[in-house]
Amino acid sequence: MTDLPVAHLAVVPLPFEPSFEVIPEDEAETSKELAETLHSILETTFKDEGHANRSVHAKSHGLLRGRITVLDSLAPQLAQGAFAKPGTLPVVMRFSTNPGDILDDKVSTPRGLALKIVGVEGPRLPGSDGDLTQDFVMQNAKAFTAANPKAFLRTLKLLAKTTDKAPGMKKAFSALLRGVESTIEAMGGESGTLKSLGGHPQTHILGESFNTVVPFLYGPYFAKLSIVPVAESLTVLTDKHVDFEGNPDGLRKAVSDYFARQGGAWDVRIQLATDLDRMPIEDASVVWPEDLSPYVTVARIEVEPQTSWSEQSVREIDDGMAFSPWHGLQAHRPLGGVMRVRKPSYEMSSGFRAEHNGCPMHEPLPVPESR
Ligand code: HEM
Repeated sequence: MTDLPVAHLAVVPLPFEPSFEVIPEDEAETSKELAETLHSILETTFKDEGHANRSVHAKSHGLLRGRITVLDSLAPQLAQGAFAKPGTLPVVMRFSTNPGDILDDKVSTPRGLALKIVGVEGPRLPGSDGDLTQDFVMQNAKAFTAANPKAFLRTLKLLAKTTDKAPGMKKAFSALLRGVESTIEAMGGESGTLKSLGGHPQTHILGESFNTVVPFLYGPYFAKLSIVPVAESLTVLTDKHVDFEGNPDGLRKAVSDYFARQGGAWDVRIQLATDLDRMPIEDASVVWPEDLSPYVTVARIEVEPQTSWSEQSVREIDDGMAFSPWHGLQAHRPLGGVMRVRKPSYEMSSGFRAEHNGCPMHEPLPVPESR
């Protein structure tokens, strides 16, 4: 590979200590309510569609296979977990948008990217023993819309009520919200809740940068991870309006048109925490300041031209795989309330999909699979 960046580390990372995680007494109750609310979304959408989709991020727009190359000569603080040694491994990527029902893309919502690295080595997280994968599950934002699980539960209950309700109306509502959102942004603000309801700008999904938004262990330290497009063919798509021409699956078509002709490259960047007050673990709504600790590239993802959405990839990746921050290495244990409550919810949602679609989840193996 040519033109790989060189990773310099200009900060002194803060070693993680167990006392940095503070678990509220009622977290188990909140976690149970979150899983129940997500389960109600699954029941509703399954009744309507006869197929079990994810309870959130149900609609996929691109299902890709590629490879990740970990840079050599990383600073020792950056050479941790899945990035501990240089080399190239296969990856699977799933681009999505966040509602739990499959909407017309005119209802423009925040975007997600799930990455699965296949063939990582090291002690595993509970529930993920025996697998060889490391997942990173991301959004196109730098902080979560809610500070903690309780605040997220309030938003989720509101979103659950809108599941399945008059998609035509949601479309008009979405156009209205986009107007309101751009007014708020023009005034220097940004509203996560409005975007979740359909106020996201109608831009090309392949121009987006994605972020884990919430932290995880990075060997003895803790960090957030981002994936940033670096191929010029992708960066020109950043903030680019896409005209769907009435196609309800306009985003998926835009991704298919792109990968029919060309490949893509993204850098994988790590932001190591240096200060617990400014880079908290339990408040997921805080953007960690990049002037205190900039993101540093540790790896590059490359994808060749390919069919980015097909019946086969839907079967193998959409229905046949689950992505979760809890699939992976102990060296990348998810941290903080939002991360802790995700474990049972993701297990419930993927379990529901496996049971109702009659298709167990498969964790891919390091050997290249037949396509
Ligand atoms: C309390 C917080 C959260 C809960 C309860 C939650 C719950 C879920 C559930 C149940 C799924 C479906 C899993 C499946 O069926 O396989 C899911 C998928 C997803 N979530 Fe979350 N989530 C939370 C926070 C987040 C955050 C912070 C992010 C982004 C950084 C995120 C991004 C995603 C994405 C991208 C997917 C789709 C994964 C895929 O492509 O398979 N979620 N979430």
